[in-house]
Amino acid sequence: KVMLTGKKDLAQNTVLVTAGGTREPIDPVRYISNRSSGKMGYALAETAAKRGAKVYLVSAPTSLAVPAGVHVINVETAEQMYRAVMELYPGVDVVVKAAAVADYRPRVTAAQKIKKNDAGMVLELEKNTDILMELGKRKKHQLLVGFAAETEDLIKNAREKISKKNLDLLVANDVTRPGAGFGSDTNLVHILYPDGKVEKLPLMDKLALSEVIWDKVIRLKEGKK
Ligand code: CTP
Ligand code: CA
Repeated sequence: KVMLTGKKDLAQNTVLVTAGGTREPIDPVRYISNRSSGKMGYALAETAAKRGAKVYLVSAPTSLAVPAGVHVINVETAEQMYRAVMELYPGVDVVVKAAAVADYRPRVTAAQKIKKNDAGMVLELEKNTDILMELGKRKKHQLLVGFAAETEDLIKNAREKISKKNLDLLVANDVTRPGAGFGSDTNLVHILYPDGKVEKLPLMDKLALSEVIWDKVIRLKEGKK
């Protein structure tokens, strides 16, 4: 499927995309994070803006440039992302949660740089809020798109996420496959629907994949698949 250049088929839509990997501070110089590059989320923001949407990009730290016409809200931690997303949620039509949100944060953040000692150390973690789960609970008119990064049992794990989080569409990738996921310019995904339908997509450039995701979102909004 080819998108016609200049087609503004997301005009009249306000979309919220999250991107990047959150950082959970240990002390002033250290944090816990993950391998997310932010490329998938930035590609989604870029293509939505080109197709005429008003785009809010809530971004954890990345090394990427903000795409033209996109309103960026920079955050660092999962907690900050949660607050930014919740504030925007009532006013948006579609949310795409491409961010890799840290599941846990250090229970305390040390005010000073932690000094090493010979005994080793234990870092105590507490759970972050599942932002997407909260969005699913509060869903009204919005269409919710989640991502699932898996290393095993892709479809089974993804199906659990789509129902548990009350999603309209889930993009699932096995991050162990070559060319899929973290850091890569390409992605290899399955798209899942709440009715159990699964579509396997070929290895695609992240920009091309983002176009396909918006095509599916538009079709869902029109009430068909
Ligand atoms: N997500 C979120 N808030 C979190 C954790 C995850 O919004 N605290 C979102 C991600 O942005 C993604 C989706 O939930 O769209 C799935 O993330 P993933 O890490 O694959 O799933 P989890 O539910 O965190 O389960 P697990 O890590 O145990 O596989
Ligand atoms: Ca997780």
